[in-house]
Amino acid sequence: MDRARAGRLAAVAGRVEFSESFVPADRFREDVIAGLAAPRKSIPPKYFYDARGSRLFEAICRLEEYYPTRSELALTRAHLGAIARFAGRGAVLIEYGSGASVKSRLLIGALAPSAYLPIDISLDALRGAAAALRRRFPRLDIHAVHGDFSRPLKIPALPGRGRRVVYFPGSTIGNLTPREAQAFLRRTRAQVGSRGAMLVGVDLKKDAGVLHAAYNDAKGVTAAFNLNLLARINRELGGDFRPRRFAHYAFYNPGPGRIEMHLVSLERQQVRIGRRRFEFEAGETIHTENSYKYSVEGFQRLARRAGFRAERVWQDARGHFALHGLTALEAVA
Ligand SMILES: C[S@@+](CC[C@H](N)C(=O)[O-])C[C@H]1O[C@@H](n2cnc3c(N)ncnc32)[C@H](O)[C@@H]1O
Repeated sequence: MDRARAGRLAAVAGRVEFSESFVPADRFREDVIAGLAAPRKSIPPKYFYDARGSRLFEAICRLEEYYPTRSELALTRAHLGAIARFAGRGAVLIEYGSGASVKSRLLIGALAPSAYLPIDISLDALRGAAAALRRRFPRLDIHAVHGDFSRPLKIPALPGRGRRVVYFPGSTIGNLTPREAQAFLRRTRAQVGSRGAMLVGVDLKKDAGVLHAAYNDAKGVTAAFNLNLLARINRELGGDFRPRRFAHYAFYNPGPGRIEMHLVSLERQQVRIGRRRFEFEAGETIHTENSYKYSVEGFQRLARRAGFRAERVWQDARGHFALHGLTALEAVA
């Protein structure tokens, strides 16, 4: 088929392609064993997102107390025209941690991107999102990447398709330490190139009571999300965690400016994973997530150090959440 005809067909019916970029199954075991063997036990939050974890996260987004999703959706709707002008129509839209790609639908509608590249560690979330987007935007080219953004990723090159714009909503960047966030932004800066841009959703510092309620909802959905990690370890790694012997614990730590999520051992106990054994004292915790909160200026400083110009910032009416528009600086410091 000649190129012009292929192009015309692609414009009529978009494509959905999947690729893999480094999600080896063994890494889960290695990270869990290393995290539980450390003097302060911890497990990286990226392992929350098996099929059930991804569904529970979507349920969290609908909770009364969980303001970030509603705030980010509201500010995106309110400023969609300006956000689309900033990003530019016809860009290649790359989204990290795309999950259900709910906010992305607004952007896709306004930007009419030449291609959309959702990237997620959860294959179930990625498949569900791609199918829903295909129905909603039948002409859109979707290149879904199943991968881990905490390491360098291989993504399709798509030359000649327009400037690259990376979208990173949901304050997922807050799950990284500031040092990791800066390294991630640097890699992204290299990826978008000198004409590229980035839109990053960042949760703002605010009253600790509002934060506390958001991570300790009355229906216990966040607790179920946190505890699901133990069920996943039992199923996939042959663990014998008894989730009822652990409790969800989340609090704001004002020093580093972050919500910390932990699983607290309710008694002295021993847990096996395959041939490994781990001892827990009563009250000892597994640190499962950080969610850093930034001031507008604090995040802008971080972005500048990573080679971006902090050009625009949009906030919701209550000042709970910010969407930063960053463009690449020519020279990276
Ligand atoms: C906080 S949720 C945000 C979802 C969505 N972007 C939103 O704004 O509602 C984080 C998303 O990032 C994905 N994720 C977390 N860590 C990841 C990693 N290291 N690599 C790729 N995806 C990751 C999760 O599967 C999940 O879909």
